[in-house]
Amino acid sequence: MSLRLVGIAGSFNRPSKTYALVKHIAGLAAESYGFSTTIHDLTDVGPSLGTALWPNELDAQAKAVVDDIVSADVLVIGSPTYKGSYPGLFKHLIDLIDPNDLRSKPVIISATGGGDRHALMVEHQLRPLFGFFMAHTLPTAVYASDRDFVDYAVASDALSGRINSVVGELSTFFPPAKAALQAAE
Ligand SMILES: Cc1cc2nc3c(=O)[nH]c(=O)nc-3n(C[C@H](O)[C@H](O)[C@H](O)COP(=O)(O)O)c2cc1C
Repeated sequence: MSLRLVGIAGSFNRPSKTYALVKHIAGLAAESYGFSTTIHDLTDVGPSLGTALWPNELDAQAKAVVDDIVSADVLVIGSPTYKGSYPGLFKHLIDLIDPNDLRSKPVIISATGGGDRHALMVEHQLRPLFGFFMAHTLPTAVYASDRDFVDYAVASDALSGRINSVVGELSTFFPPAKAALQAAE
């Protein structure tokens, strides 16, 4: 059975730049390491998220997403930037994960924002959030602004370079399935 990559886009928007970014990263990682991939956005989690204080209060739809997150071999987290940080409901989804359930898991952190002003939110907000869980956030964090996309597709050499870097860093955890990976390093 192949290793599983789960992507989480912390946005309700469809289409969504964050979802497009997570999908792009996941696709390159799958090509390079042979992962099977599943990507969820907050709409997939559904309405019970907003009313649940404890995991056992989530409905089956939301619980399935949380189960997917904790059972993944590698996570790709993407968040839109809201007021310089992640959206509250994205944080609430993460709040419903047991503190021990992401320990040592490789996590790629990424975010989108309207401009570059809050580019460090990946370092100042997302990295400490997964530090709480003692997860292995990969060294390269990926931030993309509006101008890095055309029609909700990654369209920037600088952004592609950072995505290649972080996908290459997964080789610390997984044997590359494709020689092309080394070309990106
Ligand atoms: C409520 C709200 C707050 C936002 N705050 C910021 C912000 O502080 N900094 C920023 O760069 N972009 C901000 N944005 C823009 C979004 O981060 C940006 O459009 C993002 O790419 C949207 O992702 P999505 O297409 O996946 O929903 C904000 C958008 C909304 C709706």
